[in-house]
Amino acid sequence: MVTDEIWKLPAIVNRFLSYRAAIPLAQEQISVMMSILKTRKQPIQRFLDLGCGDGILGAAILGEYPSARGVFVDFSESMLELAREGLKEYADQLAFENLDYGDQAWVNRIDSKGPFDAVVSGYSIHHQPDSRKRQIYEEIFSLLKPDGWFVNIEHIAAESQLAVDLFNRHVIDGRYSIEKASGGTKTRQEISDIFMNRPDKDANILLSVNAQCDWLREIGYEEVDCYFRIYELAVFGGRKPNLKS
Ligand SMILES: C[S@@+](CC[C@H](N)C(=O)[O-])C[C@H]1O[C@@H](n2cnc3c(N)ncnc32)[C@H](O)[C@@H]1O
Repeated sequence: MVTDEIWKLPAIVNRFLSYRAAIPLAQEQISVMMSILKTRKQPIQRFLDLGCGDGILGAAILGEYPSARGVFVDFSESMLELAREGLKEYADQLAFENLDYGDQAWVNRIDSKGPFDAVVSGYSIHHQPDSRKRQIYEEIFSLLKPDGWFVNIEHIAAESQLAVDLFNRHVIDGRYSIEKASGGTKTRQEISDIFMNRPDKDANILLSVNAQCDWLREIGYEEVDCYFRIYELAVFGGRKPNLKS
């Protein structure tokens, strides 16, 4: 199995979702994403959630812009099914696409549904090799309307071993709390062993957020920044310039 395809396994999907609350400041990251998007003068009419999982980021956008049309892309049918189910009240305005964005052809399948006011992605693109990450950022740029935002909530490479250690400790503590609260019997050491040897770890290809922001600037995005960072997690992105304004 290609390492990132591990996300097609229902067991991996379930583990990620049951432990999401252990992600450091996960809600705050989504709040930062929304704060960025709300700086737009116009409401979001069309958005794309890339590597959408159960659609948590798109759901946040719909919470603020309930008449927006959304496209949700993932190559895990288990995830797409959860997204479809969770967002069924918006069914008429949403499209769910089973696509592998590791293959450049994904853009052709999405092109007619854009251009987009916002493209968001959560903990997903880091599964791609670095050269492909940069191409994906270019492909997203091509899918955006002028003034459209790309916001990536992402697992990135920390600059220090201490940040890596603090990230691991935070997640293990969080997972241990979830274990206890749900009546589980695993010790903290057992939780730690499971996390440190998790099967999806090999699928991570982490890169510093600064290197990724530099690419966004080179591609032509403006207002590029890392708007939030904790340990190995970052919210970064940029806006497609509006050459008429
Ligand atoms: C860690 S989950 C995050 C899900 C969601 N975005 C969130 O923030 O909770 C990563 C998601 O990216 C999807 N994914 C990974 N590589 C992909 C690819 N090449 N094409 C499409 N989806 C991909 C996985 O199937 C999974 O649903």
